[in-house]
Amino acid sequence: MKAVVVYESLWGNTAAVAGAIAEGLGSGARALSTAEATPEAVAGAELIVAGSPVMAFSLPTEMMRKGMAEDSGKAPRPPDLSHPSMRAWLASLPPGAGRGRAAAFETRFRWSPGGATGAILRRLRRAGYASLGRKKFIIKGSYGPMRDGEFDRARRWGEELARAAGGEIKEG
Ligand SMILES: Cc1cc2nc3c(=O)[nH]c(=O)nc-3n(C[C@H](O)[C@H](O)[C@H](O)COP(=O)(O)O)c2cc1C
Repeated sequence: MKAVVVYESLWGNTAAVAGAIAEGLGSGARALSTAEATPEAVAGAELIVAGSPVMAFSLPTEMMRKGMAEDSGKAPRPPDLSHPSMRAWLASLPPGAGRGRAAAFETRFRWSPGGATGAILRRLRRAGYASLGRKKFIIKGSYGPMRDGEFDRARRWGEELARAAGGEIKEG
């Protein structure tokens, strides 16, 4: 079975969680930024795990990304905008073309209204991937690091997903 983990990450926390999930899925799984997750890289995936940070209670918008690039005064470093938003990546998936399962995750504060996984799963369902589950991973400060133990949780969730998807993850 081919599995890919796709992420948007402005300060690297979501990318690191994606890497831990991929480790849990098995050695054949890869964590890809939305730029690396080209149609060719995703083709034939039977499991897509997609994740993003929660910003302003939702998936980051283009306007928020632009705003943060212009005013990253409070941030430890400028946001990494080298890859598209998860919103744009999801919008690029052809409707109904996929044949597989999906799971979604978000990095976020412990207490916050809203979230990103609902929107991610809805769009992946439209693209042909039935939902398998979702998970929240908690960040300590506004820009990281992740709370202690979150990477272990991510790895274990990857293992659970591989079992639930019912197959050995092979390189694809
Ligand atoms: C401008 C801004 C708005 C944010 N809004 C929220 C929010 O509404 N809810 C939340 O839980 N976390 C919020 N966060 C925290 C982000 O979720 C956190 O920065 C993110 O997990 C970092 O992931 P990354 O390093 O992969 O970019 C916000 C962070 C920033 C910088």
